[in-house]
Amino acid sequence: MKVTIVGAGAVGASCAEYIAIKNFAAEVVLLDIKEGVAEGKAMDLMQCASLNGFDTRIVGSTNDYSKTAGSDIVVITSGIPRKPGMTREELIGINAGIVKSVAGSLLEHSPEAIMIVVSNPMDTMTYLVHKTTGLPKNRIIGMGGALDSARFKYRLAEALEAPISDIDGMVIGGHSDTGMVPLTSQATRNSIKVSEFISEDRLQEVAEATKVGGATLTKLLGTSAWYAPGAAVSALVQAIACDQKKMFPCSALLEGEYGLEDLCIGVPVILGRNGIERIVELELSQAEADKMKESAAGVSKTNGLLEV
Ligand code: LAC
Repeated sequence: MKVTIVGAGAVGASCAEYIAIKNFAAEVVLLDIKEGVAEGKAMDLMQCASLNGFDTRIVGSTNDYSKTAGSDIVVITSGIPRKPGMTREELIGINAGIVKSVAGSLLEHSPEAIMIVVSNPMDTMTYLVHKTTGLPKNRIIGMGGALDSARFKYRLAEALEAPISDIDGMVIGGHSDTGMVPLTSQATRNSIKVSEFISEDRLQEVAEATKVGGATLTKLLGTSAWYAPGAAVSALVQAIACDQKKMFPCSALLEGEYGLEDLCIGVPVILGRNGIERIVELELSQAEADKMKESAAGVSKTNGLLEV
């Protein structure tokens, strides 16, 4: 199993690290346009191998896509991250051009690869990759919901004063401060609805803290987060590489599901060797369905800014 990660910034490198530590891939190629950075990070990570007990080979490359040839899974993290006070949508101008060209170069060398898009505004970048590559929809996956759900579970565990392993919950909708739809009515602690443990007001606070999870970190760090984004990407890569048939909310091209079409937005999907093997259609409450519709309108508006 060969995985390529384009962008050896904080998210890309942390994704490579988590993949290596989980030890399921034979090779990870880290590629960046900045001279020497990918090679340096790959070497540093390889020097963790004997300490952390992995055999995954990590290779760095300065923009030489021939090194990525024959990848089974490719991850696009390239582009600029947001700075404090910025929305993900404001990155579209610079990142659209980068993502389009990276996707093209990757496919030239790995025509069978499954693509995971991480660059922001993620739902729109995923849609852009659909429009520009014409790949079958199961092979293009946007990473947002897995991260947002992890942040939701963190906030729920905090509110319930419970260990995170007790908590389950999902966030669907757009990967944006206003577009996320945390499914508060369906979140559970050991199969019991969380509303049995905390008040509706507290649950709404949890939902709001989840939606601005990325912005909160950007304000603290001065740039966007990387550990949880890297871990979330590595979980998707592992689900595909190991054919786990695991369910994650991911940005997928919709063709009528949830009453939506011609956009990519976060919905629960089953991930296996073929990428998105199924889109799971949940019964949403009226409030959740309304929020999903509003979220989709926001994503479509951002898509309208693309020149494709
Ligand atoms: C975040 C970026 C990866 O939410 O979108 O941290």
